[in-house]
Amino acid sequence: MTFPIHRPRRLRRNEALRRLVRETRLTADGLIYPMFVCTGTKVRKEVGSMPGVHQQSADQIVEECREVESLGLSAVILFGLPESKDPRGQSSLHAQGVVQRAIEAIRKANLNLLVITDVCLCEYTDHGHCGVIENGEIGNDATLEILAEQALSHARAGADIVAPSDMMDGRVAAIRGKLDANKFENIAILAYAAKYCSGFYGPFREAAQSAPQFGDRRSYQMDPANAREALKEVALDLEESADIVMVKPALPYLDIVRQVRDKFDVPVGAYNVSGEYAMVKAAAQKGWIDEQRVVLEILTGIHRAGADLILTYHAKDAARWLKK
Ligand code: PBG
Repeated sequence: MTFPIHRPRRLRRNEALRRLVRETRLTADGLIYPMFVCTGTKVRKEVGSMPGVHQQSADQIVEECREVESLGLSAVILFGLPESKDPRGQSSLHAQGVVQRAIEAIRKANLNLLVITDVCLCEYTDHGHCGVIENGEIGNDATLEILAEQALSHARAGADIVAPSDMMDGRVAAIRGKLDANKFENIAILAYAAKYCSGFYGPFREAAQSAPQFGDRRSYQMDPANAREALKEVALDLEESADIVMVKPALPYLDIVRQVRDKFDVPVGAYNVSGEYAMVKAAAQKGWIDEQRVVLEILTGIHRAGADLILTYHAKDAARWLKK
């Protein structure tokens, strides 16, 4: 009897060998850093449930964007905290709105950063839902026009990519039509195509002050139990001309990321959301896990599952660690 000729351990003997045969290579290139913009100046307030993440005014956003750029990251995504809210989210459309001003400030600073904007109503409506309310329900078609106007105002302010996260039917087509009609045919759409109704958004709703004031989001966000439906949502968004599609959250939905990657030939993103971040931060603060090791393992896992882009609050730390 000969000893097994297969010895997979031969290629694990030292770091040089492991590096040589590594299948998934995580880099800062595909990481996108989410930021929360508020009104005022010199405001920088840490979000309690998200250590290291701040609500900040445009001037402070620009400062952090300089840091983001110097770390080798290529993109940020902006969320807005307006001064006033109303039933239709009107403040999301203003040329001088909180996100629009931040985009202009970043543009003025001449940074080599892509600016992506979250397009949604929940941060701007007093009821906290992602659409307008009609007969006690979240209206779909009435919401589309507002989303399209919001995306247009972000494009006018200088956004590179708009990212609708509301989960209304037909929003990608509505936004594309509006952008094209206004000569913004080169502004790309990153669609939150398969966005699940998730408990993992809890800390974000504190950060963005966007918790629904009644009911929940189950009538528009997806049921966590559904996978085939995610493929349908992605197919529809692509038919409507989405340039990049995203799955959200990431960790409980890596099977969806993999299926979307295998089935469609477009860039695929995954959102490593606030609750996923908060769990890591809390455990690390208690000394229960090694934060650097766990974060890089999580991001490698999301990338290995098929995500080309990853939106993550860990982006700055990860970029630092990956540089070494
Ligand atoms: C909605 C939106 C949400 C997130 C991004 N865009 C929250 C929600 O649907 O309630 C969540 C992101 C996160 O949890 O990190 N505009």
